[in-house]
Amino acid sequence: MLKDTLESGCRTIDEALQRLLPSVDSYPQSIHRAMRHSVFAGGKRIRPILCMEAARAVSADSQLPQGVEELGSALEMLHTYSLVHDDLPALDNDDLRRGKPTCHKVYGEATAILAGDALQTYAYEVLSKLNCPAEARVRIVEEISHGTGTIEGMIGGQVVDLESEHQKPDAKVLEYIHRSKTGALITASLVSGGLYAGGSDAQIKSLREFGRAIGLAFQIVDDVLDVTQSSEQLGKTAGKDTASDKATYPALFGINESIRRADELVSQANESLEFFGARADTLKQLAAFLVQRKN
Ligand code: IPE
Ligand code: IPE
Ligand code: MG
Ligand code: MG
Ligand code: MG
Repeated sequence: MLKDTLESGCRTIDEALQRLLPSVDSYPQSIHRAMRHSVFAGGKRIRPILCMEAARAVSADSQLPQGVEELGSALEMLHTYSLVHDDLPALDNDDLRRGKPTCHKVYGEATAILAGDALQTYAYEVLSKLNCPAEARVRIVEEISHGTGTIEGMIGGQVVDLESEHQKPDAKVLEYIHRSKTGALITASLVSGGLYAGGSDAQIKSLREFGRAIGLAFQIVDDVLDVTQSSEQLGKTAGKDTASDKATYPALFGINESIRRADELVSQANESLEFFGARADTLKQLAAFLVQRKN
């Protein structure tokens, strides 16, 4: 059941993150406190859950491959780093994240910048020690570093997102922003899960197509929720995109058309999983959840 997948996925990832991140007693304490503040503020853990379910879909016995939660945790560290930096005054300038004051609000800008940096370097330390064949480990690092980089990756998307504020939205640029800033890490999460479990080229291709479609849908829905939900519901400042004059799907196409596009992308995503048959049922349920979510 979807509820069990989400709950047990969160639990597994939270336990692994608790184990993998330095304790708040480790010197220098301030940075470890700041990292843990943002990581344990209450995220949905969507990327690690997608990663683990992709690995399960590939596994012959439909079990989670041993140690895959460490890969999932590294993805969550990278995602959290991107949020800490996204919220900085120089980027989106947000005070609220995951229902808590943002990292820089609590610990100051310098520590928040360094906490983001540190989450990124820790993620790669964890990836370097993954319990899978060395060749898969190298491919995973390549996939994730590319997905968070500047060429159609997370940082590239963030750059164009910032440069597009107060510009007239353009459908092509908007799609580039969303596929890059958000879709690329979601795709890398699915592909890396498949690689960890020893997926074939055909399985990896199908996970990549699925990721590309739900990754774009995920950010379209994030834009819609910014307009339709309250800050309390979101755990982050509602209405922020309109206030900052961001390039978003609702700004260009309206809410209804944005939702229609997200739904269409989910149907497309599900088609790319045909290859897996019933083994992809959980991934399909997760895709449906991503567009129906309320935060
Ligand atoms: C928020 O991601 C930032 C985007 C890329 C849209 P999530 O909606 O997955 O945020 P958390 O991790 O649950 O806080
Ligand atoms: C952020 O997009 C994508 C990231 C890479 C962090 P947004 O700026 O829309 O994310 P939120 O709405 O602040 O979570
Ligand atoms: Mg942003
Ligand atoms: Mg933001
Ligand atoms: Mg947003």
